[in-house]
Amino acid sequence: MILPLPNPEATMALGNQLAPLLGSGMVIWLSGELGSGKTTLARALLRGVGHLGPVKSPTYTLVEVYVVSSIYWYHFDFYRLSEPEEFDDAGLGEYFRDDAVCLVEWPEKAAGHVPPADLCLVFRFADNAADSGRVLELAACTEAGQKCLNALKNLGLDVGS
Ligand SMILES: Nc1ncnc2c1ncn2[C@@H]1O[C@H](COP(=O)(O)OP(=O)(O)O)[C@@H](O)[C@H]1O
Ligand SMILES: [Mg+2]
Repeated sequence: MILPLPNPEATMALGNQLAPLLGSGMVIWLSGELGSGKTTLARALLRGVGHLGPVKSPTYTLVEVYVVSSIYWYHFDFYRLSEPEEFDDAGLGEYFRDDAVCLVEWPEKAAGHVPPADLCLVFRFADNAADSGRVLELAACTEAGQKCLNALKNLGLDVGS
């Protein structure tokens, strides 16, 4: 599933629609270059489930924790991991629980250690140089992920394919 996200408002709107479809125990990988919109979508998802406070990028802390309606939301950013083994050294596996939703920026940096995703989201800069927007590819990797994407499609988003 490919979604054009022409501006940050489109990213926020997607977050609002996708957030209520995510269930506890799910793992969402957010991939794409620096500045491609991963943190913006994580922020939108947290806003979408009713988190009112700030959503900081976890670039320096590795993980930021939110509790919304008794569900733990862990927002990771592995950009600064120098090798994937650091995932285990830091005990990060303990965060991936049934009562938590895990949003993971830069999962590639913890390859082989970070648990697999239910949903893989890949952000790209729009091809057209005059277009400052993004294009998002959403792929389901589990049945739970597929249910989410089906529900998202049924909401009548402007879906390219
Ligand atoms: N769909 C979009 N179209 C254009 N600009 C966007 C879009 N989504 C986010 N942005 C902007 O691009 C930047 C993305 O930053 P951020 O979300 O921190 O990226 P990342 O976490 O991938 O490094 C922000 O300045 C944001 O306002
Ligand atoms: Mg980020």
